[in-house]
Amino acid sequence: MSTHQDRKKVTVPEIMAMKKRGEKIAALTAYDYLTAEMLDEAGMDIVLVGDSAGMVIAGYETTLPITLDEMIFMTCNVRRGVRKALLVADMPFLSYQTSISDGIKNAGRFLKEGEAEAVKVEGGKAVVELVERLVGYGIPVMGHLGLTPQSINKFGSYRLQGSDSETADLIKQDAKLLEEAGVFSLVLEKIPASLAKDISHSLKIPTIGIGAGPDCDGQVLVTHDMLGIFDKFKPKFVRRYAEIGKQMRHAFSGYIKDVKSKEFPDADESF
Ligand code: KIV
Repeated sequence: MSTHQDRKKVTVPEIMAMKKRGEKIAALTAYDYLTAEMLDEAGMDIVLVGDSAGMVIAGYETTLPITLDEMIFMTCNVRRGVRKALLVADMPFLSYQTSISDGIKNAGRFLKEGEAEAVKVEGGKAVVELVERLVGYGIPVMGHLGLTPQSINKFGSYRLQGSDSETADLIKQDAKLLEEAGVFSLVLEKIPASLAKDISHSLKIPTIGIGAGPDCDGQVLVTHDMLGIFDKFKPKFVRRYAEIGKQMRHAFSGYIKDVKSKEFPDADESF
Protein backbone atom coordinates (compact mmCIF):
# COMPACT_ATOMS: atom_id res chain seq x y z
CA MET A 1 0.00 0.00 0.00
CA SER A 2 1.47 3.37 -0.95
CA THR A 3 1.64 5.98 1.82
CA HIS A 4 1.71 9.76 1.90
CA GLN A 5 5.52 9.56 2.28
CA ASP A 6 5.85 7.49 -0.94
CA ARG A 7 3.79 9.94 -2.92
CA LYS A 8 5.75 11.88 -5.51
CA LYS A 9 5.97 15.66 -5.20
CA VAL A 10 3.52 17.32 -7.59
CA THR A 11 5.32 19.81 -9.82
CA VAL A 12 4.25 22.18 -12.60
CA PRO A 13 5.39 19.72 -15.35
CA GLU A 14 3.52 16.94 -13.53
CA ILE A 15 0.28 18.98 -13.57
CA MET A 16 0.72 19.46 -17.33
CA ALA A 17 1.50 15.75 -17.80
CA MET A 18 -1.71 14.80 -15.99
CA LYS A 19 -3.73 16.31 -18.83
CA LYS A 20 -1.77 14.25 -21.38
CA ARG A 21 -2.48 11.09 -19.36
CA GLY A 22 -6.15 12.01 -19.03
CA GLU A 23 -5.86 12.10 -15.23
CA LYS A 24 -8.17 14.64 -13.61
CA ILE A 25 -6.57 17.28 -11.36
CA ALA A 26 -8.01 17.83 -7.86
CA ALA A 27 -7.54 21.25 -6.26
CA LEU A 28 -8.94 22.97 -3.16
CA THR A 29 -8.13 26.18 -1.30
CA ALA A 30 -6.36 26.57 2.06
CA TYR A 31 -5.43 29.54 4.20
CA ASP A 32 -4.02 27.89 7.36
CA TYR A 33 -1.49 25.22 8.34
CA LEU A 34 -3.79 22.47 9.68
CA THR A 35 -6.20 22.50 6.74
CA ALA A 36 -3.26 22.56 4.33
CA GLU A 37 -1.74 19.52 6.03
CA MET A 38 -5.05 17.61 5.82
CA LEU A 39 -5.45 18.44 2.13
CA ASP A 40 -1.89 17.36 1.43
CA GLU A 41 -2.21 14.09 3.35
CA ALA A 42 -5.49 13.34 1.56
CA GLY A 43 -3.57 13.43 -1.74
CA MET A 44 -4.62 16.80 -3.21
CA ASP A 45 -2.79 17.69 -6.45
CA ILE A 46 -2.94 21.48 -6.04
CA VAL A 47 -3.46 23.56 -2.90
CA LEU A 48 -4.44 27.13 -3.76
CA VAL A 49 -4.11 29.99 -1.31
CA GLY A 50 -7.07 31.78 -2.89
CA ASP A 51 -7.92 35.44 -2.46
CA SER A 52 -11.35 34.00 -1.57
CA ALA A 53 -9.70 34.39 1.87
CA GLY A 54 -10.97 37.96 1.65
CA MET A 55 -14.50 36.58 1.95
CA VAL A 56 -14.25 33.31 3.93
CA ILE A 57 -11.42 34.29 6.31
CA ALA A 58 -11.59 38.09 6.57
CA GLY A 59 -15.37 38.45 6.13
CA TYR A 60 -15.31 41.08 3.38
CA GLU A 61 -18.14 41.22 0.81
CA THR A 62 -15.68 40.71 -2.07
CA THR A 63 -12.12 39.49 -2.65
CA LEU A 64 -10.88 43.03 -3.35
CA PRO A 65 -9.77 44.27 0.10
CA ILE A 66 -7.40 41.41 1.02
CA THR A 67 -3.82 42.70 0.94
CA LEU A 68 -0.58 41.32 -0.44
CA ASP A 69 0.94 41.01 3.06
CA GLU A 70 -2.14 39.14 4.31
CA MET A 71 -1.95 36.74 1.34
CA ILE A 72 1.77 36.18 1.96
CA PHE A 73 1.12 35.48 5.67
CA MET A 74 -1.46 32.83 4.69
CA THR A 75 0.85 31.35 2.05
CA CYS A 76 3.54 30.91 4.73
CA ASN A 77 0.99 29.15 6.99
CA VAL A 78 -0.09 26.82 4.20
CA ARG A 79 3.49 26.13 3.12
CA ARG A 80 4.20 24.55 6.53
CA GLY A 81 1.43 22.01 5.90
CA VAL A 82 1.99 21.21 2.23
CA ARG A 83 4.71 18.74 1.30
CA LYS A 84 3.55 16.90 -1.82
CA ALA A 85 0.88 19.05 -3.46
CA LEU A 86 1.71 21.93 -5.79
CA LEU A 87 1.35 25.17 -3.81
CA VAL A 88 -0.18 28.03 -5.82
CA ALA A 89 -0.78 31.51 -4.40
CA ASP A 90 -3.37 33.96 -5.68
CA MET A 91 -2.11 37.46 -6.44
CA PRO A 92 -4.59 39.85 -4.81
CA PHE A 93 -6.28 42.83 -6.44
CA LEU A 94 -3.81 45.62 -7.33
CA SER A 95 -0.72 43.53 -6.58
CA TYR A 96 -0.12 43.03 -10.32
CA GLN A 97 -2.39 45.45 -12.20
CA THR A 98 -0.43 48.63 -11.41
CA SER A 99 2.70 47.84 -13.45
CA ILE A 100 4.72 44.95 -14.84
CA SER A 101 7.48 45.66 -12.34
CA ASP A 102 5.00 45.59 -9.39
CA GLY A 103 3.66 42.29 -10.75
CA ILE A 104 7.12 40.74 -10.96
CA LYS A 105 8.20 42.01 -7.52
CA ASN A 106 4.99 40.88 -5.84
CA ALA A 107 4.87 37.49 -7.56
CA GLY A 108 8.48 37.05 -6.47
CA ARG A 109 7.49 37.69 -2.84
CA PHE A 110 5.12 34.70 -2.98
CA LEU A 111 7.99 32.48 -4.08
CA LYS A 112 10.69 33.98 -1.84
CA GLU A 113 8.71 34.56 1.38
CA GLY A 114 5.78 32.14 1.02
CA GLU A 115 7.70 29.44 -0.86
CA ALA A 116 4.78 29.09 -3.27
CA GLU A 117 5.63 27.24 -6.47
CA ALA A 118 3.36 29.25 -8.76
CA VAL A 119 1.08 32.29 -8.70
CA LYS A 120 -2.41 32.83 -10.10
CA VAL A 121 -3.55 36.01 -11.84
CA GLU A 122 -7.00 36.91 -13.17
CA GLY A 123 -7.69 38.20 -16.67
CA GLY A 124 -6.85 37.65 -20.34
CA LYS A 125 -5.25 40.05 -22.78
CA ALA A 126 -4.58 42.58 -20.01
CA VAL A 127 -2.16 40.23 -18.20
CA VAL A 128 -0.46 38.61 -21.22
CA GLU A 129 2.69 40.74 -21.04
CA LEU A 130 3.03 40.16 -17.30
CA VAL A 131 2.55 36.38 -17.74
CA GLU A 132 5.28 36.28 -20.42
CA ARG A 133 7.69 38.16 -18.15
CA LEU A 134 6.93 36.05 -15.07
CA VAL A 135 7.29 32.79 -16.97
CA GLY A 136 10.49 34.12 -18.53
CA TYR A 137 11.90 34.70 -15.04
CA GLY A 138 10.95 31.20 -13.89
CA ILE A 139 7.74 32.05 -12.04
CA PRO A 140 5.02 29.62 -13.17
CA VAL A 141 1.59 31.22 -13.65
CA MET A 142 -1.93 29.83 -13.45
CA GLY A 143 -4.47 31.90 -15.41
CA HIS A 144 -8.10 32.59 -14.42
CA LEU A 145 -10.92 33.46 -16.86
CA GLY A 146 -14.71 33.62 -16.86
CA LEU A 147 -16.17 34.99 -13.65
CA THR A 148 -13.04 36.66 -12.30
CA PRO A 149 -14.07 37.91 -8.83
CA GLN A 150 -11.56 40.80 -8.82
CA SER A 151 -13.69 42.33 -11.64
CA ILE A 152 -16.97 42.06 -9.71
CA ASN A 153 -17.54 45.82 -10.01
CA LYS A 154 -17.34 45.55 -13.80
CA PHE A 155 -19.68 42.50 -13.90
CA GLY A 156 -22.15 43.92 -11.36
CA SER A 157 -23.04 40.44 -10.03
CA TYR A 158 -21.68 36.90 -9.73
CA ARG A 159 -23.67 35.75 -12.77
CA LEU A 160 -22.63 33.20 -15.39
CA GLN A 161 -20.06 34.53 -17.89
CA GLY A 162 -19.70 33.64 -21.59
CA SER A 163 -23.36 32.80 -22.04
CA ASP A 164 -23.66 34.67 -25.39
CA SER A 165 -21.52 34.02 -28.44
CA GLU A 166 -19.69 37.36 -28.26
CA THR A 167 -18.45 36.95 -24.66
CA ALA A 168 -17.83 33.22 -25.21
CA ASP A 169 -15.54 34.10 -28.15
CA LEU A 170 -13.68 36.64 -26.00
CA ILE A 171 -13.05 34.03 -23.29
CA LYS A 172 -11.84 31.55 -25.95
CA GLN A 173 -9.48 34.15 -27.42
CA ASP A 174 -8.15 35.05 -23.97
CA ALA A 175 -7.59 31.36 -23.17
CA LYS A 176 -5.49 30.97 -26.33
CA LEU A 177 -3.52 34.16 -25.57
CA LEU A 178 -2.77 32.97 -22.03
CA GLU A 179 -1.62 29.58 -23.28
CA GLU A 180 0.67 31.28 -25.80
CA ALA A 181 1.99 33.55 -23.05
CA GLY A 182 3.01 30.47 -21.06
CA VAL A 183 0.47 29.78 -18.29
CA PHE A 184 0.78 26.16 -17.12
CA SER A 185 -2.92 25.83 -16.29
CA LEU A 186 -6.08 27.86 -16.47
CA VAL A 187 -8.96 28.25 -14.00
CA LEU A 188 -12.34 28.61 -15.75
CA GLU A 189 -14.95 29.99 -13.37
CA LYS A 190 -18.73 29.94 -13.82
CA ILE A 191 -19.02 29.57 -17.59
CA PRO A 192 -21.29 27.19 -19.55
CA ALA A 193 -20.10 23.57 -19.52
CA SER A 194 -20.12 23.48 -23.35
CA LEU A 195 -17.79 26.50 -23.56
CA ALA A 196 -15.43 25.01 -20.93
CA LYS A 197 -15.40 21.74 -22.90
CA ASP A 198 -14.51 23.60 -26.12
CA ILE A 199 -11.69 25.50 -24.42
CA SER A 200 -10.37 22.40 -22.64
CA HIS A 201 -10.23 20.50 -25.94
CA SER A 202 -8.56 23.36 -27.78
CA LEU A 203 -5.72 23.88 -25.25
CA LYS A 204 -2.68 21.75 -24.45
CA ILE A 205 -2.51 23.10 -20.90
CA PRO A 206 -4.99 21.79 -18.30
CA THR A 207 -8.13 23.72 -17.42
CA ILE A 208 -9.32 23.69 -13.81
CA GLY A 209 -13.04 24.33 -13.55
CA ILE A 210 -15.17 25.88 -10.84
CA GLY A 211 -18.77 25.98 -11.99
CA ALA A 212 -17.58 25.08 -15.51
CA GLY A 213 -18.93 21.55 -15.90
CA PRO A 214 -17.38 18.08 -16.01
CA ASP A 215 -15.13 18.38 -19.07
CA CYS A 216 -12.42 20.57 -17.54
CA ASP A 217 -9.13 18.77 -16.89
CA GLY A 218 -9.49 19.37 -13.17
CA GLN A 219 -11.79 20.88 -10.56
CA VAL A 220 -11.30 23.41 -7.77
CA LEU A 221 -13.65 24.54 -4.99
CA VAL A 222 -13.34 26.87 -2.03
CA THR A 223 -12.74 24.51 0.90
CA HIS A 224 -15.06 26.46 3.22
CA ASP A 225 -17.89 25.97 0.67
CA MET A 226 -17.40 22.23 0.15
CA LEU A 227 -17.11 21.61 3.90
CA GLY A 228 -20.28 23.60 4.60
CA ILE A 229 -18.36 25.99 6.90
CA PHE A 230 -19.59 28.85 4.73
CA ASP A 231 -23.27 27.89 4.70
CA LYS A 232 -25.14 31.19 4.31
CA PHE A 233 -25.99 30.13 0.73
CA LYS A 234 -24.87 27.37 -1.62
CA PRO A 235 -23.92 28.24 -5.20
CA LYS A 236 -25.30 25.66 -7.69
CA PHE A 237 -21.77 24.46 -8.56
CA VAL A 238 -20.78 23.66 -4.98
CA ARG A 239 -21.11 20.08 -3.74
CA ARG A 240 -21.07 19.90 0.06
CA TYR A 241 -18.97 16.98 1.30
CA ALA A 242 -19.66 17.80 4.96
CA GLU A 243 -21.81 20.03 7.15
CA ILE A 244 -19.03 21.37 9.36
CA GLY A 245 -20.80 24.72 9.89
CA LYS A 246 -23.75 22.93 11.53
CA GLN A 247 -21.38 20.85 13.68
CA MET A 248 -19.45 23.95 14.78
CA ARG A 249 -22.63 25.77 15.79
CA HIS A 250 -23.80 22.69 17.69
CA ALA A 251 -20.42 22.40 19.46
CA PHE A 252 -20.34 26.09 20.41
CA SER A 253 -23.84 26.08 21.91
CA GLY A 254 -23.10 22.79 23.70
CA TYR A 255 -20.00 24.35 25.27
CA ILE A 256 -21.91 27.46 26.39
CA LYS A 257 -24.62 25.26 27.93
CA ASP A 258 -22.04 23.12 29.78
CA VAL A 259 -20.13 26.15 31.12
CA LYS A 260 -23.31 27.89 32.29
CA SER A 261 -24.68 24.72 33.90
CA LYS A 262 -21.24 23.98 35.52
CA GLU A 263 -21.06 20.62 33.69
CA PHE A 264 -17.70 21.65 32.22
CA PRO A 265 -15.05 21.05 33.41
CA ASP A 266 -15.69 17.84 35.39
CA ALA A 267 -13.29 16.05 37.74
CA ASP A 268 -11.48 14.24 34.87
CA GLU A 269 -10.84 17.55 33.18
CA SER A 270 -9.42 19.15 36.33
CA PHE A 271 -6.09 18.86 38.22
O1 KIV B 1 -9.78 32.72 -4.70
C1 KIV B 1 -10.07 31.54 -4.94
O2 KIV B 1 -10.33 30.74 -4.04
C2 KIV B 1 -10.09 31.13 -6.34
C3 KIV B 1 -10.60 29.77 -6.67
C4 KIV B 1 -12.02 29.63 -6.36
C5 KIV B 1 -10.30 29.38 -8.06
O3 KIV B 1 -9.71 31.89 -7.18
